[in-house]
Amino acid sequence: MTAPEESTFADLGPVLVIIPTYNEVENVERIVSRVRAAVPEVHVLVADDNSPDGTGDLADKIAAEDDHVHVLHRKGKEGLGAAYLAGFRWGIDNGYDVLVEMDADGSHQPEELPRLLTALRGADLVLGSRWVPGGKIVNWPKSRVLLSRGGSTYSRLMLDVPLRDVTGGYRAFRKETLLGLGMDQVASAGYCFQVDLAWRAVKAGFKVTEVPITFIERELGASKMSRNIVLEALLRVTAWGIETRFQQLTGKKK
Ligand code: GDD
Ligand code: MN
Repeated sequence: MTAPEESTFADLGPVLVIIPTYNEVENVERIVSRVRAAVPEVHVLVADDNSPDGTGDLADKIAAEDDHVHVLHRKGKEGLGAAYLAGFRWGIDNGYDVLVEMDADGSHQPEELPRLLTALRGADLVLGSRWVPGGKIVNWPKSRVLLSRGGSTYSRLMLDVPLRDVTGGYRAFRKETLLGLGMDQVASAGYCFQVDLAWRAVKAGFKVTEVPITFIERELGASKMSRNIVLEALLRVTAWGIETRFQQLTGKKK
């Protein structure tokens, strides 16, 4: 039995929610069905890095039963940034106008997606933000809160981006924003990919809006955050910051 499909966000064009996965076999079914229930008209792309736990096979089974679900199989673990870039490219090539980033582990609430999409009507990029009034974090250890707040503050000061949550991973882009910010020059592999994209969007003059979200720490499976990911972010943000200051001093345009 199929209910008639409501198309609340038809004015934005076709929407693709990209969910990168690496060993998320306990989470992938639940997240896909929550997205499909929250906004039935959207399509979902699972971008799996050949997860040893069989996430990719399970995603194929889900896709076989739901024509709104697609799977991009990548050859191995190349980082969140690389998976998203491949997902964006796939989405743009397949005719989607809005590309959404969402974690697989339930930290980003699909039920909040309508809020992001509504805000996108008046913006080029919408960031789900933990650090604006109304934003919340549930069940994160103090160390993780400090890392995230510190990372966002450091990036904001180094790069002059007027945003509160630059590292978050729940976002909605218009296709034109991704194409206009130089997506193909992005080299960031790990989570600093998020900072990279937000910063590029601001520099390119796009309108970036933050909406509050509730981030809930995963219950199943493990975080892929690692020391190397933090180090990559610290080094890249510092280098970009120094380069920006230098260009400001020498009067060259950013
Ligand atoms: N395909 C692929 N390849 N997916 C990956 C990879 C990878 O190399 N690394 C992580 N992922 C997927 C995970 O499977 C999950 O769906 C999502 O990316 C987020 O990974 P987590 O490991 O759960 O991230 P987190 O909870 O520690 O980090 C959160 O905070 C970061 C910093 O604020 C997330 O919200 C990140 O998006 C955010 O950048
Ligand atoms: Mn997580």
